[in-house]
Amino acid sequence: MKTLLRLCLMLVMTPMLASTLTGCSKSEAAASPNGIEAAKVADMLHIVMAADRTTYVKKVVNRFIKEQKVQIKEPNSEAFVAMAASEEWENEHGSLPLPAQMFRMGAELAREKADGLFDYQLLSEWPINKQNAPRSDVEKEGLKFIRETKGEKPFYGEEEIAGKRYFTALYADKGVAAACVDCHNMHPDSPRDDFKLGDVMGGIVIRIPMD
Ligand code: HEC
Repeated sequence: MKTLLRLCLMLVMTPMLASTLTGCSKSEAAASPNGIEAAKVADMLHIVMAADRTTYVKKVVNRFIKEQKVQIKEPNSEAFVAMAASEEWENEHGSLPLPAQMFRMGAELAREKADGLFDYQLLSEWPINKQNAPRSDVEKEGLKFIRETKGEKPFYGEEEIAGKRYFTALYADKGVAAACVDCHNMHPDSPRDDFKLGDVMGGIVIRIPMD
């Protein structure tokens, strides 16, 4: 911890060096004049994202599928099938978008509106969709940090991508409902089948340009 603090202070004193990642936790990152503003903005954005994501999973997906076990009448048939959340929701009668798809559709709309102000994405060290694997060193370090700290604290770092400097924050994405955990544990492309309720299942990365 001491070494980490020293590293953070060093980066504060030499901001040009700060393009590499810092493992600074919340209070330590606040020492940086750039970091504190960006960190607050990222924290606020994350609160909204996580609230919407939890609400969709608990009040829609988990409620209809796990609690009410809603049955959908097949079109042109008398048969009923269990309502599902599915990757193929657009082609399936009565299917709900997956929470991850809901999140991505929102992110895509937001990206158009935000016009470079910020960007965000869902990631995981155990991705079902390999597009959601971490790429940059900061993403990898951030996911490791939130796994090791069980999502208690966000991770703040800085990185340079294509010549542009970014403040990059990662927040834990937790299995807040049985639907999260069960679907991932049972999915054939999931590298893990042992998630439990409340576990860190991945992370939300938020990037804010610093220049
Ligand atoms: C009905 C199945 C289902 C449910 C419910 C579900 N997921 Fe997923 N999740 C998926 C699938 C499939 C993907 C990959 C979809 C994609 O990226 O298009 C995914 C993607 C993710 C990712 C990105 C990494 C990856 O695995 O590709 C995270 C993190 C994640 N889900 C966490 C959660 C959490 C937390 C919940 C509950 C709040 C949840 N999921 C609910 C099926 C599900």
